[in-house]
Amino acid sequence: MNQPEISAINRRNFIKTTSTIAAGLTLAPGVFAQHDDTLKIALIGCGGRGSGAADQALSTKGPVKLVAMADVFKDRLNSSYDMLKGKHADRVDVPEGNKFIGFDAYKHAIELADVVILATPPGFRPMTFEEAVRQGKHIFTEKPVATDAPGVRRFLAAAAESKKKNLKVGVGLQRHHQIGYIDTIKRLHDGAIGDIVSMRAYWDGNTPWVHPRETLEAQAGRKLTEMEYQMRNWYYFQWICGDHIVEQHIHNLDVINWVKGAHPVRAQGMGGCEVRKGKDYGEIFDHHFVEFQYPDGTYLSSQCRHILGCYDSVSEHVVGTKGRCDINDYAIRDKHNKVGWKFKMEHQPNPYQQEHDDLFAAIRADKPYNEAEYGANSTMTAILGRMATYSGKMIDWDDAINSKISLFPKELSWDADMPVKPGPDGMYKLPVPGKTVVV
Ligand SMILES: NC(=O)c1ccc[n+]([C@@H]2O[C@H](COP(=O)([O-])OP(=O)(O)OC[C@H]3O[C@@H](n4cnc5c(N)ncnc54)[C@H](O)[C@@H]3O)[C@@H](O)[C@H]2O)c1
Repeated sequence: MNQPEISAINRRNFIKTTSTIAAGLTLAPGVFAQHDDTLKIALIGCGGRGSGAADQALSTKGPVKLVAMADVFKDRLNSSYDMLKGKHADRVDVPEGNKFIGFDAYKHAIELADVVILATPPGFRPMTFEEAVRQGKHIFTEKPVATDAPGVRRFLAAAAESKKKNLKVGVGLQRHHQIGYIDTIKRLHDGAIGDIVSMRAYWDGNTPWVHPRETLEAQAGRKLTEMEYQMRNWYYFQWICGDHIVEQHIHNLDVINWVKGAHPVRAQGMGGCEVRKGKDYGEIFDHHFVEFQYPDGTYLSSQCRHILGCYDSVSEHVVGTKGRCDINDYAIRDKHNKVGWKFKMEHQPNPYQQEHDDLFAAIRADKPYNEAEYGANSTMTAILGRMATYSGKMIDWDDAINSKISLFPKELSWDADMPVKPGPDGMYKLPVPGKTVVV
């Protein structure tokens, strides 16, 4: 495919954003003449999604180059590099010296780029996002953007800074770039089903991957430290994953927030760990059911479950005064449940590609583009839901977002004293509704 050249003016605009503001300097005209139009990318967190996001960033229009990579594990970085180099030989230029390993790796990789992809597990998002903003870089960050309230506040403070610096920020809630969703939700906003009075959202499905300690230790040929184990098996630890209500169900909660143009004001719910029990399943629940209340008094019933052999659904549905809509099915029905409109498109563009196309186009054209705030609100919505199920109490948004309870370890090192450890039987403690304190 031909890669259109971008104009000198556009180049000036986006480089000005990344360099001038970061340095707090006013650069003389002509300073940019020495640069070409290539957008340099750094990948932070070289796992499945990070590698996918880098592939998509490297498939956008205009000259782009992956110049730096960072991960805490060398094996993860190397396999990501091999995949990306195999697919984009001429667009991957990451010499050994630009492959950074360790807890501080992100800082060095960010330095070398115009655009950074943040795709670590979500516990590290506030820290890496803040640093990317501090260094004045454009950002694609995966969702969720935090795992606890202090993390959301830290992310929001950096988001405000990113706006001041005119940085472009994309958040990996890709339904916002999926034409079927965009078209359907626009119709809802235009009143296709009247006032929306009731909502439902689901992420009911299977358990994702698990990395048992025994297998990891057999592969390593030694015992793992607790930090190493939790980092490898991160899905099952609150501080780094947030629980699956935050890590996955955020997508469906985000769609309802988008439809309502608001986030919930309070929530109560129930949940537990009924089936997915065992030493390697950490400290998260396998099901959550939450009633979220929105500012207009309407309710969202939300459920997410990781139990095999049960009802499966990843979907969002709303009922209005004049009809109903199965949002993920792009279908609007009348009061008699008859489909009146359905979005049809033979080849809908891949939303994962589209979100990168949109971000990179905005960077090149210096158009306003910042998804950080709704990304943070949707993350906080999911955290509020988790607080409701863990505590078993009615939790107000304001109390939730102001919670001082931080899940993050005090120290980031491989032999850190982890706040969460297994008991003598190898099992981790689960939250206990009615007893667990969340705010
Ligand atoms: N938008 C979507 O549909 C979608 C889909 C999948 C994953 N995700 C999100 O992407 C993120 C990553 O998920 P994944 O499936 O790629 O996980 P993964 O385990 O495959 O990759 C995470 C990578 O980050 C590395 N890492 C961990 N801590 C780090 C740190 N402090 N600094 C640098 N690297 C670090 C890990 O070693 C690993 O290579 C998660 O937030 C997840 O929710 C989004």
